[in-house]
Amino acid sequence: MRKKIVVANWKMNNTQDEAIHLVTAIISKINNLTLKEVEVVIAPSYLYIKDVIELTKGNLNITVAAQNCSEHLKGAYTGEVSSIMLHSIGVKYVIVGHSERRAYQNENNLLLKQKIDLILSNHLLPIYCCGESLEERNSDEHFSVVENQLNEALFHLPMELMKKLVIAYEPVWAIGTGVTATVNQTQEMHQFIRNVISKKYNSSIADSISVLYGGSCNSTNASELFACEDVDGGLVGGVSLAANDFVKIVESFID
Ligand code: PGA
Repeated sequence: MRKKIVVANWKMNNTQDEAIHLVTAIISKINNLTLKEVEVVIAPSYLYIKDVIELTKGNLNITVAAQNCSEHLKGAYTGEVSSIMLHSIGVKYVIVGHSERRAYQNENNLLLKQKIDLILSNHLLPIYCCGESLEERNSDEHFSVVENQLNEALFHLPMELMKKLVIAYEPVWAIGTGVTATVNQTQEMHQFIRNVISKKYNSSIADSISVLYGGSCNSTNASELFACEDVDGGLVGGVSLAANDFVKIVESFID
């Protein structure tokens, strides 16, 4: 059975006090739930990762992700943070290939491939984001764009490393816009992603990889999106800044 995962991507939000307050509220609400198969992942700014790790220590349902890492291992890269550093403080996942970084930091699939390799070789797990722009969807290129994003950044990996990936399908036009992909669009793309992985590797790997949906996910639309056969959770931005609403999304997995 695939792992269900809900990620809180806080992006560049919260002061330290706000971050501590928010994670404390999320922890207390999560502790009141019986979550067997669901993992809640918090992705704060680098600055508060240590705080969030301390506060969630010993909590079996909550783990921590970084929002990015360097494509270099170490050395003279002022301002950068490496996967070795993240691993040394207890981070589990790294979000890679978010459309905001592709757009504002010009990150392309080849650079993301380098990051993925370093993340995996330093015992961290990548959450790899893919997804098409509105223009690409309107011109019917969404499948080829996503296939290319998977192919160029991931498909050099041997099977035993590919298995460790989490994939997030995040249509760019749905991120922070309040427009969510429909259930049909979501299931169709998630199934496509699984088929592409199956063709390249095999069906048991494709069936074992968690594929999350991201893009204006909220407590109202989460249950129908998460009910799709090939959707294994969500990558949540805006709504993850409010403990109540975020935990309601997590609750979508509880019958
Ligand atoms: P959103 O962001 O939930 O605010 O649309 C999702 C994301 O960027 O991961």
